[in-house]
Amino acid sequence: MKPYYVTTPIYYINAAPHIGHAYTTIAADVLARFTRGRGRAAFLLTGTDEHGQKIEDAAKAAGKHTIDFCDMTSSQFRELWKHLDILPDDYIRTTEKRHEDKVQELFSILMKNGDVYKGKYEGLYDVVSESFVKESDAIKSPKGILLGPDSGKPLQKLSEETYFFKLSKYAPRLLAHYKANPGFLAPAHRANEILRFVEGGLEDISVSRTKVKWGIPVPGDPDHTIYVWFDALINYWSATAGTDLWPADVHIVGKEIFRFHAVIWPAMLMSAGLPLPKQVFAHGWWTIEGQKMSKSLGNFISPYDITQEFGVDALRYFLLREMPFGNDGDFSKAALTKRYNAELANDLGNLVSRVSEMVDKFLGGRLPTKPPLDLDFYTTSVAKRTPEISEKMAALDFSGALDTIWDVVRSLNARVNEKAPWKLAKTDPKQCELVLFDLVCSLRLVGGWLDPFMPSTAAKIHMQLGVRAFPVPLTAEDVLAGKKESTGLIQKGPVLFPRKV
Ligand code: MSP
Repeated sequence: MKPYYVTTPIYYINAAPHIGHAYTTIAADVLARFTRGRGRAAFLLTGTDEHGQKIEDAAKAAGKHTIDFCDMTSSQFRELWKHLDILPDDYIRTTEKRHEDKVQELFSILMKNGDVYKGKYEGLYDVVSESFVKESDAIKSPKGILLGPDSGKPLQKLSEETYFFKLSKYAPRLLAHYKANPGFLAPAHRANEILRFVEGGLEDISVSRTKVKWGIPVPGDPDHTIYVWFDALINYWSATAGTDLWPADVHIVGKEIFRFHAVIWPAMLMSAGLPLPKQVFAHGWWTIEGQKMSKSLGNFISPYDITQEFGVDALRYFLLREMPFGNDGDFSKAALTKRYNAELANDLGNLVSRVSEMVDKFLGGRLPTKPPLDLDFYTTSVAKRTPEISEKMAALDFSGALDTIWDVVRSLNARVNEKAPWKLAKTDPKQCELVLFDLVCSLRLVGGWLDPFMPSTAAKIHMQLGVRAFPVPLTAEDVLAGKKESTGLIQKGPVLFPRKV
């Protein structure tokens, strides 16, 4: 089976990465790690979108040669992914030759088959979102200036010779594809918006610029550079050159760029005769302390500020727990601190340290060598939750999967309180051993479930619980078989999540 191929948007490099970029990339990493944990190879692609007017302007403002500016800012993203424990399998930059060649190749195919033709574009352009805006969609400022509907910034009036892509021709095929493949666009409420949009009919789109020099030249007509979005979308395919990766299993994108991925990209692929991705998933947007992230408010949150205070895993956890994937939500310090203390420090951290401490104290840090086979609670209440978690993960319902995991974590805490192994140690040592054995197996499994979300926490949990080798025991069978690697000394480690005040 070919690797499960998951992508993030390629990010604009005119500004430093913030929590919104981190969100998408963490989600994609969690999905890739989850897939690998189930024994299927996964391939995670991310990268940077480096052409177009916005980047050209930003480089000029920074007083740098454009490519030097790109090198500098692109590496900030790459460094951040390392810091956040994200494991990309490839990192594509649109200024790389391997990408530029493929963009020209695809553009030529569309020129040859007649879907790309020359004309003239007269209309509005939004540099912030690098998109052509219909006059009817523009917003009029009190002074009568036309503003971009998403960016709120003044629009440029363009009058240029351009190449058009016959998007209009693909409306019927797109609609047929959406209908025949109900999971292609997700979540459903956003899919419906696209459906209505396409049902309203599509117009051909401009796909080249003559005034923008920082771009890939149109094959055979170097006065034109290829429109930055046309160029950018192709990254998902260009990165797979020489592999069997295409088509992608899922493109994860923010809701504001869903249309590009749900309408234009599939139409481009149809025109080129290439297979379509299996799914495009549009997640929602974070506000910060109740407000939209914006330059004018200067409220972009740097992921480093959060990880410095709470750690990488707490950020990964919070982003995927707080806001159901697909919905909008708010990022606030208060909400983060609350979840950190209640769920990470109390529910999870305390449980791990209590259990490991008791095994150390009452069983000399070792599980019985002949495992008792009636892992009562583990079997009846813990292991059987694995399919539920897997289903939610496969549906990109990250917060739902974490809800289930926390349900189990809380039930394990309740069990510790109810069984009171510290009492059993005096009155019924055999029973004490059984209860602790059951708890350790359960917690090892919880560690396995958490591994994609919080890889270093999961590793620490496993270390404390005597798991000495990977792959970690993920299934009931592994644990019941008392796998050799699971027999290391069990002892309390450093506090996983020190409480915050
Ligand atoms: N370069 C284009 C994408 C091209 S893909 C072929 C682009 N880049 S971007 O730098 O603006 O990144 C947009 C993406 O960043 C969003 O789609 C989303 O994944 C993420 N986010 C940016 N702000 C965000 C929030 N406030 N909340 C959640 N995600 C956000 O668009």
